[in-house]
Amino acid sequence: MDDQVDHSRRRLLTVATVGTGAIGVAFAAAPFLASWNPSARAKALGAPVEVDASKLEPGQMIKVAWRGQPIYVVRRTKDVIQHLGDHNDLLVDPDSDASEQPAYIKASGAARARNPEYWVGLGVCTHLGCAPLGAFERRKEFQLAGVDLGSNWPGGFYCPCHGSKYDASGRVFKNVPAPKNLTIPPYALGKDMHIVIGVDDASQNA
Ligand code: FES
Repeated sequence: MDDQVDHSRRRLLTVATVGTGAIGVAFAAAPFLASWNPSARAKALGAPVEVDASKLEPGQMIKVAWRGQPIYVVRRTKDVIQHLGDHNDLLVDPDSDASEQPAYIKASGAARARNPEYWVGLGVCTHLGCAPLGAFERRKEFQLAGVDLGSNWPGGFYCPCHGSKYDASGRVFKNVPAPKNLTIPPYALGKDMHIVIGVDDASQNA
């Protein structure tokens, strides 16, 4: 009698284990199949975005959305570009060794750009994700949103959430909460200063 009870319990446990396993497979398969059948909306979200930067004046910025994230395109002044190398000792990662960026951006040095005049980057602070504000002139004193950016501001970005500062190449300054430089997405330069975000054109790589 005891023996029979043991057998039936063992069968029940076996059925229960197989059943749970089947449900687990079903749940695991659903996201897998979804990733192989992206919706039109998902495709559109991941598609490259073309930006016409030809009308930008030096010191101006435009924002576009790519993959649901803000991308900043800044036309830097010659003055700001010339002095990008002057404040390396104030930066956390001046050579962008720990930055998220394509290899050709790292190779461009302090400019972090395919064309030094036009900087492209993710407008997302690397601390907690706020949108940094732009302050793209070199000035002895710069007040932005009521905040003193310090003496000899080299041009760059200020995050109003907790005070992180980045230079005009998106390189983060020391002693602020943000740990890393701003991220740079893959992009290509088209004709007449049209910039295509989200594609890598290997022929443009240095
Ligand atoms: S989110 Fe930018 S400083 Fe905190």
